[in-house]
Amino acid sequence: MSHDYQLYFSRLCQGLYEQREFWQANAFREPSLSWQAENDDLSRALLSLEECDLLQLENDVSSLLKYLSPYISGLDELSSMASDVEICSEQLPELAQDMRFFPSHIPGRKWQQIRHFQQAAPAKAERLVDWCCGKGHLGRFLALSESCQVLGLEWQQSLVDAGNELANSLLEGALSIVPCDVLEEATAGLIGDGDHVFALHACGDLHRRLLQLAAQRQLEAVSLAPCCYQKISAEQHSFLSAAAETEDLTLRRQDLHTIVQETVTAPRAVQNKRILLQQWRLGFDALQRDVRAVDDYLSTPSLPQSSLQLGFEGFCRLLADKRQLQLPVDVDWQHYQALGLKRFSDARRLDLARLVFRRPLELAVVLDQLLYLQESGFAVELRQFCPKPLSPRNLLINAWRD
Ligand SMILES: C[S@@+](CC[C@H](N)C(=O)[O-])C[C@H]1O[C@@H](n2cnc3c(N)ncnc32)[C@H](O)[C@@H]1O
Repeated sequence: MSHDYQLYFSRLCQGLYEQREFWQANAFREPSLSWQAENDDLSRALLSLEECDLLQLENDVSSLLKYLSPYISGLDELSSMASDVEICSEQLPELAQDMRFFPSHIPGRKWQQIRHFQQAAPAKAERLVDWCCGKGHLGRFLALSESCQVLGLEWQQSLVDAGNELANSLLEGALSIVPCDVLEEATAGLIGDGDHVFALHACGDLHRRLLQLAAQRQLEAVSLAPCCYQKISAEQHSFLSAAAETEDLTLRRQDLHTIVQETVTAPRAVQNKRILLQQWRLGFDALQRDVRAVDDYLSTPSLPQSSLQLGFEGFCRLLADKRQLQLPVDVDWQHYQALGLKRFSDARRLDLARLVFRRPLELAVVLDQLLYLQESGFAVELRQFCPKPLSPRNLLINAWRD
């Protein structure tokens, strides 16, 4: 990626804005999508996809891009921008002999993520902070590999206790985890100007708070791999940088949800239940539109898989109760169940036109964060710190004082 991040951000925002009809429309909420009328070829092609082709496109982003590019103008350019972020080496150096024991308490994928993260984010200060550290696995590794003092911040007391116990058994005080809520003003007082704050997979408001703190304070450096962008208290996403003020792009919380939507891999039986739940929800959606005589989505609480035991009728009655919706006595249940099945099949196919925008949307959000830090006086870089199969949330912002 070129280092003119502002230009990249601007081009990305413009491309996303022009194609907003595709990524704003959610086929699991609406039976027909606004883009379909003007894109009849695309609509027909998607709706006629065979199951095996659909599966292939759902599971392989590059095939999906190739497939959709002839139909959606500018998609090629948008996605090549999104794939242009520097990829850190997939090779990790050998672990020193005395560190081989280290990963024994860390789940395998998390350990790999930590190793890649540490490689891609060199420590730039004498004291490091592990922001929202869980059991402090990253902090422990940083304390050992960088021979630094590390402060861990975590609000769940059980994780704080478990993390401090692990640290005490091998670090002699180099890592100390403090119980605190990072969203509270008082927590800022624990962080010193001159600290390098690391945040691996901090969710929505948690990483936004860190960004604001970095902008307000004289932190030495920040290394942030954001995740769960949608976990924010606000209804609407707000961009942070001044650069974003001149862009027309706006994002709703559901667009942030789009970013993190992955093809779910689960045992076959669990997947089948999930599918059935979605089909029934869509059947209920068709029913509630008719009953209310309002052709609009009605949000309903999610129900556990055990609610499948109620049968389709019981399931719909439960959802109707939750929304105080009076159902007529003569509902044709078979009809609505069949509608749900058909809508699920169509929605999976049409939804591909939304899902193809996941990475460009993510990049727009992350570039805004990076520009915000740059505007606050940091030198910045954006990298992919680990291979995507290890974590789909693999974007890393490094920001430091030059
Ligand atoms: C997704 S986990 C990431 C943990 C760790 N960084 C890792 O990569 O394994 C997010 C962590 O943030 C903690 N957390 C959530 N809200 C918090 C808050 N307001 N203040 C401090 N920690 C919080 C959670 O308890 C959890 O351990």
